[in-house]
Amino acid sequence: MEIESRPLSDALGAELFDVDLARPMDETTFRTIHGAFLEHSLILFRDQHITPEQHIAFSRRFGGLATHVFDQFLLPEHPEILRVSNKREKGELIGLADAGKYWHSDLAYMKRPSLGSILHALQVPPTGGDTLFANMTRAYDTLPQAAKGRLGGMMAVNRVAEGRRTSVDGRIRMSKAQLTKTPDVVHPVIRTHPETGCKSLYVSQSHTDRIVGMDLEEGRALIRKLVAHATRPENIYTHKWRPYDILMWDNRCTMHRVAPYDRRHRRHMHRTTIKGDTPY
Ligand code: OGA
Ligand code: MN
Repeated sequence: MEIESRPLSDALGAELFDVDLARPMDETTFRTIHGAFLEHSLILFRDQHITPEQHIAFSRRFGGLATHVFDQFLLPEHPEILRVSNKREKGELIGLADAGKYWHSDLAYMKRPSLGSILHALQVPPTGGDTLFANMTRAYDTLPQAAKGRLGGMMAVNRVAEGRRTSVDGRIRMSKAQLTKTPDVVHPVIRTHPETGCKSLYVSQSHTDRIVGMDLEEGRALIRKLVAHATRPENIYTHKWRPYDILMWDNRCTMHRVAPYDRRHRRHMHRTTIKGDTPY
C-alpha cells in the first residue's frame, strides 16, 4: 500500500498524507507507516481529530507504552498519556510546562529509554513554541573518522536534568519516590539502531552528565562539543505546529527541544511514549 509523503526538510522528517488515525488501521497500512518512521525518523500527520483512546491505540501498534515518572501530569483516566501543557487548574499546572527546553531524547535517563514519542497538539501559541529536531545518525556520519573511532567505546552517565531534580533554592521538585525511580544510568555515546542497524550519536544537553572514565570537566566539554556538532542548522528540522498535528519521532536516532514562546498563550499537547530497548 502506498501512502503519499513529502520530506519536511533536508535533515529529517516526512509528512504522510491521507491517513486518518481515528479509523481502524489494517496491518498493511501500519507497516507502511512503520517503514516511513524508520526511514525518516520523524513523521507528521496533520488534522488528526482523535481521542485519547485512539492516540493510545495507534501508539500501541509500535510497542508497550511507558507511564511517565512525572505522574502528576498524566491524564487522569489514561495514564499512558502525559500532558505537555501550560494550562492550570485551581492554580496548579496540569502538565509538564517546560518539557524539552534543552536538547534531549526522551527517557534517556532510564535504563531502557523510549523507542519513540507521539505528540498530539491540541492548542498552540500563535507564534513561537516550535519544536526542533536533530538527526543524530547524520550527526554521527559527519564526525571526523578519528572521532568516530575514539567515541566508539565510550560510555556516558545519563540522568534527569538537575533543574528538575532540585530547584534553584535547593527545594526538591521531584518527589522522593520519583527520584528513587530514576537513578543514574550508563549508555554508550554511540548507539546502534536495533531496527535499521545505523549508528547514532547518543548524548544530549539535558541528560548526559559526564563521560565514564574521563575527567568531569573534560567530559562535559566533549558533550557540549558533540551537541554543538549535532545541532548545526543543516542537521535540524523546525516544526511549526498547527492544532491537531501529530508528530512521531524516533528517540533512538534524534534529539529535540522546544523553542521559546510567550507564556501568556496556551500550549496544550498529549504525548504517548513507547518503550524501547537498552541502548547498545
Ligand atoms: C516532549 C517534548 C517538546 C515540545 O514532549 O517530549 O520534549 O515541543 N516536547 O513540547
Ligand atoms: Mn521530549
